[in-house]
Amino acid sequence: MAKAKTSFICQNCGAVYTRWQGKCDACGEWNTIVEESQSGGIGGGPSQARRKGRPSALFSLSGETEEAPRIVSGMSELDRVTGGGFVRGSAILVGGDPGIGKSTLLMQAAAALARRGYSIVYVSGEEAVAQVRLRAQRLNAADSNVQLMAETNIEDILATLASNAKPDLVIIDSIQTIWTDIADSAPGTVTQVRAAAQTLIRYAKSSGTAVVLVGHVTKEGQIAGPRVVEHMVDGVIYFEGEGGHHYRILRGVKNRFGATDEIGVFEMGDGGLREVSNPSELFLGERNTQAPGAAVFAGVEGTRPVLVEIQALVAPSNLGTPRRSVLGWDQPRLAMVVAVLEAHCGVRLGQHDIYLNVAGGYRINEPAADLAVAAALVSSLSGIALPADCVYFGEISLSGAVRPVAHAAQRLKEAEKLGFRQAVFPTASAELPRLSGMTSTQIGPLADLVVRVASGLKKT
Ligand code: TYD
Ligand code: MG
Repeated sequence: MAKAKTSFICQNCGAVYTRWQGKCDACGEWNTIVEESQSGGIGGGPSQARRKGRPSALFSLSGETEEAPRIVSGMSELDRVTGGGFVRGSAILVGGDPGIGKSTLLMQAAAALARRGYSIVYVSGEEAVAQVRLRAQRLNAADSNVQLMAETNIEDILATLASNAKPDLVIIDSIQTIWTDIADSAPGTVTQVRAAAQTLIRYAKSSGTAVVLVGHVTKEGQIAGPRVVEHMVDGVIYFEGEGGHHYRILRGVKNRFGATDEIGVFEMGDGGLREVSNPSELFLGERNTQAPGAAVFAGVEGTRPVLVEIQALVAPSNLGTPRRSVLGWDQPRLAMVVAVLEAHCGVRLGQHDIYLNVAGGYRINEPAADLAVAAALVSSLSGIALPADCVYFGEISLSGAVRPVAHAAQRLKEAEKLGFRQAVFPTASAELPRLSGMTSTQIGPLADLVVRVASGLKKT
């Protein structure tokens, strides 16, 4: 009898080796390589009769629908991130840390969709039907027409789906619990996760059903990460949040049918997730406007302005190498802003510890936050509080200039709407709106900002 072929596969990145080793050369993780059987494989053997297909023209006059057909949930924070609803025949991955609220979000979405008349199947591989039902009751979603299934074998799931009326949307919670007969590794290994995801994606394409795969991400990479699934699916959404904070951010990172820079904001409470339609109010909720070191950044996420407070603490250091601690922003970016302040503005931070924090556990991805960070640093170092009614935005270049950023008008309008009276931003910012009751200070070189902060940021 032929010996079953086995390979050694990294559970973090999916790299394949012929023998075991302690460290994965591809991703650098330790102890992630596991022996998996390769027997069976995916797809038919060579003896199978081949089916002949027929290619079709890219543009045909018969005119199939141009817009991807969407399944709209009516939860606007979710629909915004998916680009206007789930696309029929597509598969997306919803990833996130265990316990962040993925099952809660998808149960609420399933209920919302069912109320709009869509047929939804929720496959739970982690919880029993009774548990899922209990959660749905707590979320006020139990009365809805969502079909529940507690099943982990992919062939059984597809057989069940085929024997019932074709659903509009299938939710698989989670992909790590699903296993297939054709691969004989343990559930949760890369081979199983990849094979199960492939089968489900094929099902989505052939049936026109939208498929949502839930995947846990663990930093240790012990469970086969959904990273291997990311390349296969049409869209990837991450559900993020900081421990100790109640709100959660849904962030699109891949989308074959729409934009990827959108976020959705939710607040986790007793009754599940609540949509937050004005995140700025939430992030600016608990401000201490008298303290030095705090600056409000007027940011934009996708199509929506988001105002957040950036807090800096600059304190003399006892260490040989001063500490630089950043939460919610890029560490290298902070190093750059500090270097520019030192080199071009005469601000000495070399002997100081720096702690930088974005309020509320929010994470900023824009370089436009540079100017607000610089203002917060200078304010903390000098002990002079910035005006409470002022916002900042602008990118800092290595030459010490403050460069214009996109969406200046949108940022200013949002700040005005929320009651801010001053704005500091780069000169040469295009498309400025008329602002009633708001003074703007336009900065060329970063050194100007330092002078103004030191003099209490009075009007020009
Ligand atoms: P869950 O959706 O099970 O997370 P995941 O599927 O991502 O692992 O969410 C679990 C957490 O959410 C748990 O810590 C409790 C909290 N939670 C609430 O605070 N309120 C609620 O109404 C629900 C259902 C959960
Ligand atoms: Mg869950």
